Amino acid sequence: MNYLSASLLAADFARLGEQIGEVDRAGVQYIHYDVMDGCFVPNISMGIPVLSSIRKCTDKTLDVHLMIDDPSRYIGEFAKAGADILTVHAEAATHLDQVIREIKALGLKAGVALNPATPLCMVENVLHMADMILIMTVNPGFGGQKIIDYTLEKVSKLRSMIREKGLDTDIEVDGGITLDNVEKVLEAGANVIVSGSSVFVGDAADNTRRFLEILNRS
Ligand code: DX5
Ligand code: ZN
Repeated sequence: MNYLSASLLAADFARLGEQIGEVDRAGVQYIHYDVMDGCFVPNISMGIPVLSSIRKCTDKTLDVHLMIDDPSRYIGEFAKAGADILTVHAEAATHLDQVIREIKALGLKAGVALNPATPLCMVENVLHMADMILIMTVNPGFGGQKIIDYTLEKVSKLRSMIREKGLDTDIEVDGGITLDNVEKVLEAGANVIVSGSSVFVGDAADNTRRFLEILNRS
């Protein structure tokens, strides 16, 4: 099944509740929540208290993308704040196996993210443990960037690896996904589509419905 994950990074933060309501009512399945620490990525976004507030205004899956160094320090707090999926970067977690175990022990889904230049072999040994692999299609830190085309080859190779192992792991893609390139991304083998600016710039409800129409027929 394909899922749309609307990235709040591109929403109007002064109207966060309203904007979540717009995409929620339009049928979005996941709300993508980007956490940046100013170290792992050169930007700072939102943290734990904002996530707790959001939890009160939607029942949709909260898809939390931790772009932070040593994510094991904050797994418990993000779980308590209401995350449903916690994704950590393989590059930022020294003990990736352990972090995945911690996330799953809290009853959450565990995702592992890879930057564009990071090879797939980084997740090979933990593929059977992760619920989702996030292939970054831009260098993380900012919304509104252009997709890096070679990352789609990674998506295809990862889909083959998952099939060969007899697994059914979700593949999420994040960065530069638009209504014009989403079909290509789905064809490569991704099934969880993050989009920020292509959802929240303009009419968020209408953009959500357009994405879902493509996702539902693919
Ligand atoms: C970037 C973030 C993304 C971002 C995507 O580092 O992880 O989730 O919001 O934004 P768009 O869809 O505008 O590229
Ligand atoms: Zn993200």
